[in-house]
Amino acid sequence: PNELPFPNAPDTDYADANARETAKQALQTVRQQLGKTYLPLINGEYVPASGYIDSVNPSNFEEVVGRVGQISVEQAKDAIEAAKAAFPEWKKTPVRQRAGILRKAAELMEQRRTELSYWVCLEVGKALQQADAEVSEAIDFCRYYASEMERLDSGVNYDIPGETNRYVYQPRGVAVVISPWNFPIAIATGMTVAALVTGNCTLLKPAATSSVIAAKIAEILVEAGIPKGVFQFVPGKGSTVGNFLVKHPDVHLIAFTGSQEVGAQIYADAAILQPGQKHLKRVIAEMGGKNAIIIDESADLDQAVQGVVQSAFGYSGQKCSACSRAIALAPIYDTFVARLVEATKSLNIGPADATSTQVGPVIDGNAQKRIQEYIATGKQEAAIALELSAPDNGYYVGPVVFRDVAPTAKIAQEEIFGPVLAVIKAQDFSEALEVANGTNFALTGGLYSRTPSHIDRAAAEFEVGNLYINRNITGAIVARQPFGGFKLSGVGSKAGGPDYLLQFLEPRVITENI
Ligand code: NAD
Ligand code: ALA
Repeated sequence: PNELPFPNAPDTDYADANARETAKQALQTVRQQLGKTYLPLINGEYVPASGYIDSVNPSNFEEVVGRVGQISVEQAKDAIEAAKAAFPEWKKTPVRQRAGILRKAAELMEQRRTELSYWVCLEVGKALQQADAEVSEAIDFCRYYASEMERLDSGVNYDIPGETNRYVYQPRGVAVVISPWNFPIAIATGMTVAALVTGNCTLLKPAATSSVIAAKIAEILVEAGIPKGVFQFVPGKGSTVGNFLVKHPDVHLIAFTGSQEVGAQIYADAAILQPGQKHLKRVIAEMGGKNAIIIDESADLDQAVQGVVQSAFGYSGQKCSACSRAIALAPIYDTFVARLVEATKSLNIGPADATSTQVGPVIDGNAQKRIQEYIATGKQEAAIALELSAPDNGYYVGPVVFRDVAPTAKIAQEEIFGPVLAVIKAQDFSEALEVANGTNFALTGGLYSRTPSHIDRAAAEFEVGNLYINRNITGAIVARQPFGGFKLSGVGSKAGGPDYLLQFLEPRVITENI
């Protein structure tokens, strides 16, 4: 095998009694800080906001995790001005120094790993071990992009006798990062540090429901030494402040991860040339999925059932990578469904910070209502194989399995973003592939099979950005499984991969006749 480009940060082993003791103490520390107020960071100062929102714990909505100041459009203008002013110096700052800030941020995240995991756990309802893996991913993004930028900084020479040709990269200018709540530390950190290390002055606008964690990222970057104006934390409403930032003529790049609807809107808004704008904007948009796993007649069903359950119901199905369609071939269909139902029944549903929890709440009341509406639609379209109940003191939705779902049904086509799985029967492998490819999305996909010809066909014909054979389809690791999709899942960029930083840079060629 190839040597890995760098060692990925190892996750915490909670089987170890010391790790569990550290976790207990970290939870206490985090609980003591619940309800604190976090302010926007503009031009190096924490500034009073024009309004405040409460970010609550979805496992127990009476618990306020933090109050977060929301910037006004006027403050968004100030932030852009500050970013513009800081850009010339940041552009000239040696890559070694910029990369050093990322490495320092990674070190601070390592030191605060357990507390950060609990902030994720309490603010967005992600079970502790999955939150811990997310902190590892954030650390990996910092270290990987630091070394990637050093690699790119060495440039390339295309010299011939009598002429030198140097191929070099420069930053684009002001970058706006718009992040989702479902990977509140990994994705917000990844997009932000990519924009920073490439020399862009960067504004982070997080999703409202994960803005306390984003405030922790801001604290870490400040402590790691990011200069004022180079990084700014600008929490605010997407449809007003987010939209204003996207349309601002002095913004060069928007790095967005979120829903397909918002991503498409940003893509369109950013394409319109504003008065005074002297460049076209670059948009990186990573969006949703309607991901399928195919289980053929040769599959190891123990492995397949476990992989589908994990992929469909981990973090209550609220991962862009989650499996929301299982396509089983006719000869094993009934056996697969029966075993899937039994395995799903054994999941522990409860508050994200309880060690036994496997399925926590969904993010908020709107999401809960939207998912319940999809379940009601599903009951009109298909047969229920299993519907689990869930606690009612948080935003819980019990996992649901639908069987005999038509490939064109609403629940088989639209991203539900909840613990709802549609099982579809296919007569043969060709039909299974056709069904798998029959949506607007192309993010992740999986195949459980021991038939080499099926594995080869899936590799060639299964239209997804990340294809997994005989394993679960979530949990991509930085620099090992660069992650991202195409079609309406995104513009094809791969976070945590060798092409990612290039999107944040302008290439130039300098030719000298000698
Ligand atoms: P969302 O689209 O509702 O919000 C994402 C961000 O966009 C938030 O910060 C929000 O405030 C902001 N926003 C909303 N309207 C805006 C506007 N008009 N202009 C500018 N900004 C605006 O998504 P979400 O609910 O936070 O996240 C879940 C979605 O993200 C799912 O669809 C999921 O599949 C997707 N996702 C994709 C990936 C990927 O890598 N492809 C990863 C994680 C999540
Ligand atoms: N990168 C995340 C995963 O693979 C979304 O699950």
